[in-house]
Amino acid sequence: MNTLDPWGTVKIDNYYKLFEEFGISKFEELLEKIPNPHRYMRRHVIFGHRSYESVLSAMLSGKPFAAMSGFMPSGRAHLGHKMVMEEIIWHQQQGGDAFLAIADMEAHAVRGKTWKECRDLGINEYILSAIALGLEPSAHIYFQSRSKPVKDLAFELGIKANFSELSAIYGFNGETNIAHMISALTQSSDILHPQLADFGGPKPVVIPVGADQDPHIRLTRGLAYKVNMFFVEERMDAGKPYISVRGKSAPEEALKDISKRTGGKLYEEHVDIFKGEFQEVESTVREVELKYAGFAFMPPASTYHKFMTGLQGGKMSSSIPESHIALSEKPEEGAKKVMRAKTGGRVTLEEQSKMGGEPNKCTVYELLLYHLIEDDNELMEVYKDCVGGTRVCGNCKKYTAELMQLFLKDHQEKKELARERLKEFGL
Ligand code: TRP
Ligand code: SF4
Repeated sequence: MNTLDPWGTVKIDNYYKLFEEFGISKFEELLEKIPNPHRYMRRHVIFGHRSYESVLSAMLSGKPFAAMSGFMPSGRAHLGHKMVMEEIIWHQQQGGDAFLAIADMEAHAVRGKTWKECRDLGINEYILSAIALGLEPSAHIYFQSRSKPVKDLAFELGIKANFSELSAIYGFNGETNIAHMISALTQSSDILHPQLADFGGPKPVVIPVGADQDPHIRLTRGLAYKVNMFFVEERMDAGKPYISVRGKSAPEEALKDISKRTGGKLYEEHVDIFKGEFQEVESTVREVELKYAGFAFMPPASTYHKFMTGLQGGKMSSSIPESHIALSEKPEEGAKKVMRAKTGGRVTLEEQSKMGGEPNKCTVYELLLYHLIEDDNELMEVYKDCVGGTRVCGNCKKYTAELMQLFLKDHQEKKELARERLKEFGL
């Protein structure tokens, strides 16, 4: 069985198992409807999603939507973090609101980082990189510890989260410190707060994550449902479909209002509606819920990307320097790491030209695919030449190392320019 543990090591043999085991949908099915798909989408690096349709339809019809993610300021930002940053930026470019949290409460509670370290790492590693990669000032960048709405909502969500549920997801036990638990709720609050009235109200929000983060998403979707006043559902009665709106803890007035607006039959804790479109009813219910000071959250959507392999094979991890390239890595050092990376080459040149290389097992190829070659045709050429045995690993590594060095140099120059612009981002 695949176990997904956001704070531990992850072993996922087969991503596609996730679809059945956890109810993640295939991203591929949405691909052709997306106007300018990001290279991670085109290249199936993003392979799964939950209710991304909601985001896509808002995007296509010019309605509000948002993308949000958070970064724990516990070390250096690396290429894996860059992936998430790019996904947020892409959604901003498609007209969405962008939210970027620095999870300083989590880093402080779970990793023992001081507040000062959190601040410095947050700015120098994550925020500057995100801006350098193209995040625009309309983005909401914030430190968890400084956001009152986020902390207040976390407390509210805590009412609906119990210890057993959190333990099942995060492996909490009697020894776990309470602030760690609070930081888990704060993450859910990060995810839901773009839908608060202060941030424009309920809307589709996508959280682009690595597959190991799915437990957070499921927890948060569950909490969204639990803190809402109403639950709308399609049901059957003697073969006849109808829409049921349930509101256990809803004020009587609010239920009456729903029955009046929809023409549905009013009961003590629910309204049954026999005519009208589901989506129409849903949006009426949302309006009423907001009028009576409910949250009316939509379940947050998510996309799942594959992880990059560590440069030596195995997992890419912040705690193993040789496994990753940091965005603040010296450009020459980045290039050296590429030269030392594990390839999909054969043992001898002769074998290589006879059998071809194995790009799908090559971390150098992965760097090109994920980060360094934007043009699909150009990448295709590399692939073909490798498989065809005309490409030699030594040269290929040199070429990739050069691109990496140029990228890092350029990125770091952009970070210094970004430093001058922090005020524009309210920082
Ligand atoms: N827990 C995440 C990590 O370990 C950081 C995080 C905080 C986050 N809030 C978030 C991620 C909201 C996604 C969405 O890196
Ligand atoms: Fe990897 Fe390039 Fe060697 Fe192919 S030729 S295995 S892509 S390093």
